[in-house]
Amino acid sequence: MRSLIRSAVVCPDYSKNYPAISYGKGIYLYDESGKEYLDASSGSCAVSNLGYGITEIADIIREQSLKVSVLPTHAFSSRVVADYFDTLVDFAPPGFEKVWTVTSGTEAVESAIKLALQYHRIKGDEKRYKVISRNTSYHGNSVFMLDIGGMPIRKRIYSQWMNHFPHISAANIYRKPADLSEAGYVDMLASEFEQTILEGNPDTFAALVLEPVVGAAMGSVPAPAGYLERMYEICKRYGLLFISDEVMTGFGRIGTRFGIEKFNVIPDIIAAGKGISGGYFPLSAVMASKAVMEPFVQQNNFFLGGHTYACNPLGAAVGQFVISYIKKNNLVQNANIQGDYLKERMKRLYKYDIVGDIRGEGLLLGIELVEDKATKKPFPPEMNIAKRVGELALAEGVVLYPGKGSCDGFTGDHILLSPPLIINEEQCNMIVDVLDLCIEKVVGVAV
Ligand SMILES: Cc1ncc(COP(=O)(O)O)c(C=O)c1O
Repeated sequence: MRSLIRSAVVCPDYSKNYPAISYGKGIYLYDESGKEYLDASSGSCAVSNLGYGITEIADIIREQSLKVSVLPTHAFSSRVVADYFDTLVDFAPPGFEKVWTVTSGTEAVESAIKLALQYHRIKGDEKRYKVISRNTSYHGNSVFMLDIGGMPIRKRIYSQWMNHFPHISAANIYRKPADLSEAGYVDMLASEFEQTILEGNPDTFAALVLEPVVGAAMGSVPAPAGYLERMYEICKRYGLLFISDEVMTGFGRIGTRFGIEKFNVIPDIIAAGKGISGGYFPLSAVMASKAVMEPFVQQNNFFLGGHTYACNPLGAAVGQFVISYIKKNNLVQNANIQGDYLKERMKRLYKYDIVGDIRGEGLLLGIELVEDKATKKPFPPEMNIAKRVGELALAEGVVLYPGKGSCDGFTGDHILLSPPLIINEEQCNMIVDVLDLCIEKVVGVAV
């Protein structure tokens, strides 16, 4: 049976043949030769939170397609969409009132920013347009979102369209200045944020956007203690809206419904994606607090965020099922329990000199690989250390999500783990065994 595919598909590496997956079941994918892969990435990545092959979802998509698959939203609403939006608001932190769905994480974060800008306009704050974000962050792949994000390698090709907005330092405890305590580090980052606002005319800033736990860009780096609270306070002091990018961290991924709930902050706007549909439909959402929506409602102004598949009934039907499945199967709790178990097990990997940091929250975990553990010096990027671990693991039947740039946007190798939230201890053990084997092999040739 054929298991490798060469075709007209645009792929990340033309020198390779990719195994062709024929189906998935639970947390496993199966290629055409029958080889089984444990998907410790959940698609690319943190998407297939419920696992693969859920027949009820196939039934729901069929039934809803037969009823109505798309609506002229300028003229109609529908019960399936209205019910889903109510469910989403109930699922969100307290104070959230309105929802808008689109189809990708990029559109969700961009729509969140547009909503923030429109909010300021409606309130008569015409001058507020600047969005602050952080270095080494990823918020989407449209040109606008690449500018907002802090990934120099991805921005390079579009350099003429970049650099409209300020970026502040990433918050990464592993790489904080050695002479600072965690609290001192948070002070430093908070004052950099405040200084950036003061130097750029506070009346021109519209919003701050960040991930509570940085996912793919840095390999699961949680916010330091007290950091998000300080950033929120500064936002409120200067009139910025606080946007939590929950495309990765939402829907139970880090052991809370939304990642921000692990911290003492209730954001103004949440952008969600990926796990919102478990990968069964292209779906994402912007969720806004009552305070943000008030001026829109009072002035009967609607959000100018039109997309063909916005507020789509098929997406709503799938999303409704996903929330009920998460609740029924206690997946938020399982992410906490299995995440703690997996992280604890992974600590045995510290025996390797190249394992610098093991970190993360819930089932969004990361390993940073370094050339020198004492100085935290990263590997030269051309060595592709994380990628090599990823390739070895794939051959062993485990899908990892290797990445680069966690140190400064260019250097720093990390492996992201974001297995489906249905994972059990035995499957966690398998991931760690394969990581152990593959890191050992890489150490054999790299050091
Ligand atoms: C934090 C974050 N925001 C936004 C996005 C963009 O989502 P999408 O790829 O669905 O457009 C991603 C994708 O990985 C992400 O990780």
